[in-house]
Amino acid sequence: MSPYQLAVDELSIKFRHMKEEFDIQGLYSPIEKVEGRVKSIDSILDKLQKKNISMNDMEDKIEDIAGIRITCQFVEDIDRVVEMIRNRQDMEIRLEKDYIRNKKDSGYRSYHMIISYVIQTIHGPKRLPAEIQIRTMGMNFWATIEHSLQYKYKGSIPERVQQKLSDASAAIDDIDHAMSEVRDEIMDAQVYHQKKENTIKDILNNIQNLYKIANKREVNKIQDEFYRIYLLDDLPKLQHFSKQLDIISEGYRAQSLI
Ligand code: GTP
Ligand code: MG
Repeated sequence: MSPYQLAVDELSIKFRHMKEEFDIQGLYSPIEKVEGRVKSIDSILDKLQKKNISMNDMEDKIEDIAGIRITCQFVEDIDRVVEMIRNRQDMEIRLEKDYIRNKKDSGYRSYHMIISYVIQTIHGPKRLPAEIQIRTMGMNFWATIEHSLQYKYKGSIPERVQQKLSDASAAIDDIDHAMSEVRDEIMDAQVYHQKKENTIKDILNNIQNLYKIANKREVNKIQDEFYRIYLLDDLPKLQHFSKQLDIISEGYRAQSLI
């Protein structure tokens, strides 16, 4: 399983880093959360048996031994994530299944992509399939509960419970759409928060460096001024202060180089 673990680890890092890039640039990230897992031996054996696949065909025929799950806040984010995956040079798409536009009978909704991904082993490169599931937090909520019930009822959920699940799936669909209608407002708030956090980080970094090279009394004054502006809770003022501080720091750095 070690090649699959490597694929899961690498893919998880890559998707998490995509989220980080959005955050660092103060942009709204369509990726909220990334999880990865290697299918357990138990489930692999189960699947081989159910689908009548021989052990030798396992590597070709079971495409979800390496699995990645990407959770998004809004339905619209899913298409953006799909587009980002399509544009990558290190992930080749083999198959896409759109269970969002075509909900499964169970009520399951998600966007699936089977990709082909190359890892490097001590014996050279190895090409592996991986399954990427992309869904909203609401869809994930439903799938998690339904999966537990599948487990509890060993795959044959009673009709009464199935009906409830189907109703719940429709209700979550409604919630996802209602949330989409306030998406712009939520996105603005989140981007505002991210930008503020980044600006404060920059300022504190600058102040910390100034303590090493500048006059202590002067830096204390700057720090007091920062705190005064911070309390105003006014992002443009904070950004202006950050720019001024950059210029001051630059001046000190130039001096200290002489
Ligand atoms: P398996 O379902 O994995 O045997 O293969 P498949 O070729 O039928 O692929 P499919 O796209 O139907 O499902 C792939 C994965 O999606 C599953 O392993 C589950 O993780 C998830 N999935 C599919 N259908 C359901 C469902 O009805 N409920 C839940 N909770 N998960 C589902
Ligand atoms: Mg299936």
